Amino acid sequence: QNEALARAESLIALTPDYPEPGVLFRDVSPMLADGPALRTVVEAMVAPYEGTFDIVAGIEARGFLLAGFAAALTGVGMMPIRKAGKLPRPAAAVSYALEYGTATIEAPGVLEGHERVLLFDDVLATGGTLAAAESLIADLGATVIGSAVILELEGLGGRAHVGDVHAVFTV
Ligand code: PRP
Ligand code: HPA
Repeated sequence: QNEALARAESLIALTPDYPEPGVLFRDVSPMLADGPALRTVVEAMVAPYEGTFDIVAGIEARGFLLAGFAAALTGVGMMPIRKAGKLPRPAAAVSYALEYGTATIEAPGVLEGHERVLLFDDVLATGGTLAAAESLIADLGATVIGSAVILELEGLGGRAHVGDVHAVFTV
């Protein structure tokens, strides 16, 4: 298991100066493309929360992939949290600051009967995105029982701005 996780971590690609100078971007694409690595990582994301959630939510874009896999793995449904302007009838919207730039996320009104939400994203950086998603779900009247990410960028201090987060890897 540890060996499989170490192998998965080695598949995260580092790109300097993307999307702007000074940012070292960690791209999970090669890890997603590897079947055993993808399964190992999503199982590790879900493990601490097994049995404690009724639905998963994924943050656009890479959170969708992880939440979809986790939903299939655990038998619950999933809610896509979208960037602004993509949903016909958003039930809630929250704006937030990113490591680079600003953004708004929106959610559809699909949480009736799904009180306990487990959030998914690929990376926890400044925490702005996960904090916005937490407040979006609170606005919808549901509870975020926790969040799962592949990678936490510890130096950016994002954890201080969000509720319970499980990161499979920390750098
Ligand atoms: C990245 C990443 C997280 C977020 C983390 O997405 O996938 O969602 O940034 O940063 P934060 O903790 O500082 O908020 P990005 O906003 O680049 O959008 P994308 O998924 O559409 O590429
Ligand atoms: N990778 C992916 N998403 C991110 C990163 C990163 O390095 N930094 C902020 N969001």
